[in-house]
Amino acid sequence: MFKDNIFKEKTIIITGGGTGLGRSMAEKLSSLGANIVIVSRKVEVLKKAAEEIQQKTGNKVTPLQLDIREYKSITKVLETIIEEFGRIDGLINNAAGNFISPTEYLSHKAFDTIVDIVLRGTYNFTLALGKLWIKQKETGTILNIVTTYASTGSGYVVPSSISKAGVLNLTRSLSVEWGKYGIRMNAIAPGPFPTKGAWERLMPDSSFEKKMINRIPLKRVGEHEELANLAAFLLSSYSGYINGEVITIDGGEWLAGAGEFNFLEMLTAEQWEAIKANMKR
Ligand code: HXC
Ligand code: NAP
Repeated sequence: MFKDNIFKEKTIIITGGGTGLGRSMAEKLSSLGANIVIVSRKVEVLKKAAEEIQQKTGNKVTPLQLDIREYKSITKVLETIIEEFGRIDGLINNAAGNFISPTEYLSHKAFDTIVDIVLRGTYNFTLALGKLWIKQKETGTILNIVTTYASTGSGYVVPSSISKAGVLNLTRSLSVEWGKYGIRMNAIAPGPFPTKGAWERLMPDSSFEKKMINRIPLKRVGEHEELANLAAFLLSSYSGYINGEVITIDGGEWLAGAGEFNFLEMLTAEQWEAIKANMKR
């Protein structure tokens, strides 16, 4: 789908790039020639991922420890990256925290914890990098990983849901405000893609996954490669005129839940025959 080395000499930062979808995107972009910087709290996890990806692709992957909740730490990390690589071309705001719970069971600290990682962490990084780009008169691309419930809302993941909604709004707002500086900003809204981080926290047993798959029109979960390809497209110049968009990649899941008559899926051929006969009568 992509020409080799389309990201050659481009430096792209991925928050939460040592695990799950962040790691898969790091591997894809690295295989297309990018110079990747992965940041998160667990430096040992980052180092291992960086070594493994580098070995596979032959391109540089730099692990840097960072808690995206701390603005000052982000500005320091950005200085380090600029010193080493000269400039930054792209950012994927991918890091997140989440768990399922009835909202009334949550402590206020639990609520803060998720909002601080997902919303504050994303606007922290976006603001720090945006200021730098604008000051240096450089252009760049930001990709925010949200969820389908950023638009629809969802019970039982409310701190995550309101934070992702904020990130989606940030995407739309800044794509307009910073378009004049040559900064593009888009979002991906994934449906379920199995990762250790998400599955451990959101799928207490296999019956949850089965229920989820059953309501997805394509009757399967997403493959990491599918999401990584979309991310590569949205960061590349192939999508140069796409700005302020959110692309859903969920096998049709959210629409299936939204359409008024989609529940008729459960009817058998015999039941349809009976309905038809009844209507004719
Ligand atoms: C209720 C919980 C909880 C849970 C923690 N808390 N886990 N409350 N249910 N399962 C509460 C704690 O009791 C505490 O409040 C507060 O939250 C902070 O907890 P800590 O463990 O101190 O936080 P911290 O060490 O900062 O870890 C953050 C974390 C952790 C979010 C809790 O799970 C984490 O590091 N997650 C990162 C990875 C992740 O979540 N990945 C999934 C992304 S999937 P008190 O009041 O007791 O002190 C996703 C979209 C999926 O986002 C969509 C699928 C379709
Ligand atoms: P994951 O592997 O748990 O990824 C979350 C990452 O965030 C981890 O690498 C974690 O690293 C990092 N992180 C958490 N708090 C951080 C902080 N304060 N500072 C820096 N990094 C932090 O989960 P995933 O499933 O791949 O999720 C990746 C993204 O996709 C998230 O935005 C998620 O909301 C979104 N998403 C996933 C799914 C899915 O089905 N998997 C569906 C919809 C949306 P450390 O612990 O080392 O900090």
